[in-house]
Amino acid sequence: MNIETLEDSFGFQLQHAYYVERTHVELLAEMAADAASDELAEAFATHRDETERQVERLEDVFAALGRRPRASRSRAADGLAESRRSRTADGESPPEYVDLEIGLTAERLEIRSYEGLLTLAGRLAYADDIVEPLEENLEEERTTLQRLEGLETETSITGSLETGRP
Ligand SMILES: [Fe+2]
Repeated sequence: MNIETLEDSFGFQLQHAYYVERTHVELLAEMAADAASDELAEAFATHRDETERQVERLEDVFAALGRRPRASRSRAADGLAESRRSRTADGESPPEYVDLEIGLTAERLEIRSYEGLLTLAGRLAYADDIVEPLEENLEEERTTLQRLEGLETETSITGSLETGRP
């Protein structure tokens, strides 16, 4: 895809976001299924359901642009899924800090993606049928980020790790 205009750039970033969210529906399902704690499993399951709706909202944005939904590969999203699998022993749950790291990184990636899309949408003076679904997705990502940050600070997780000092 040639990127020559702001519209092109918006379209390309939208395709990336679509790929990322669809990848994360699968990743979050895996994370919900075998997280090491009930709190993490519940957070990932809730966000998996939200992410399914986010995919639909992105499809609404494509429709508002008069385009068919199309995904462009995001190596960052693929890398997160691969990273989790490579750090999980067969048949076991990954340590909580691994799932938190993957989950937090995924949300930050998505937040940055929506911030970029909304900046472009503003410059292009796009209407509410494009801006609002993106704002709703961004809000859910921020809420999920906060929830995961809250879990990270709980002593049950940080307290489960040794310092490594004698
Ligand atoms: Fe998310």
